[in-house]
Amino acid sequence: MFWLRIVGLCLVIGCARIAPPLATMGDAQRARVTLSALHEGRALLISKCGGCHQTPMPYQYSAVEWPQKLGEMSERASLDAAQIGVLEKYLVTMSDQPRTAALR
Ligand code: HEC
Repeated sequence: MFWLRIVGLCLVIGCARIAPPLATMGDAQRARVTLSALHEGRALLISKCGGCHQTPMPYQYSAVEWPQKLGEMSERASLDAAQIGVLEKYLVTMSDQPRTAALR
C-alpha cells in the first residue's frame, strides 16, 4: 500500500534526524572539562552505543541515573575505563539539556 510506504519513509527520515546534542563551550565550562573531551564522548556514544538499539540520548536519563546505566552497558559495548569516563562526562553533562537541542 502506497500510503504505508510514505509513513515508513517519514519514520526513517525522522529517526535519522535525531542525533545526540553537540556540547558547547558553556557545557564544557560547567562540567569543568575541555570541549574536545565532550565531543569525544559524543562520538563514542554514536559509534559504540547505536549498534544494538537506537543511540540513547543524554536527556533520557538524569545525571544521577547515567553512571549506573552506563555501567550496565559498558561491557556490552566493550569500552575501556578511559572511554567510560569520557562517555559518562558527556552523558551526565548533557542530561539536563532540552530535547530540542538534539534535533540538528
Ligand atoms: C551488544 C549490544 C549493545 C550495545 C553495544 C549497547 N547496548 Fe544498550 N542495550 C542492549 C540491550 C539488548 C538492551 C535492552 C535489554 C536490557 O535492558 O538489558 C539495552 C538497553 C539499554 C538501555 C536501557 C536500560 C534500562 O534500564 O532500561 C540503555 C540506557 C542503554 N542500553 C544504553 C547503552 C549505552 C550508553 C551504550 C554504549 C555504551 C549501549 N547501550 C550499548 C544492548 C546493547
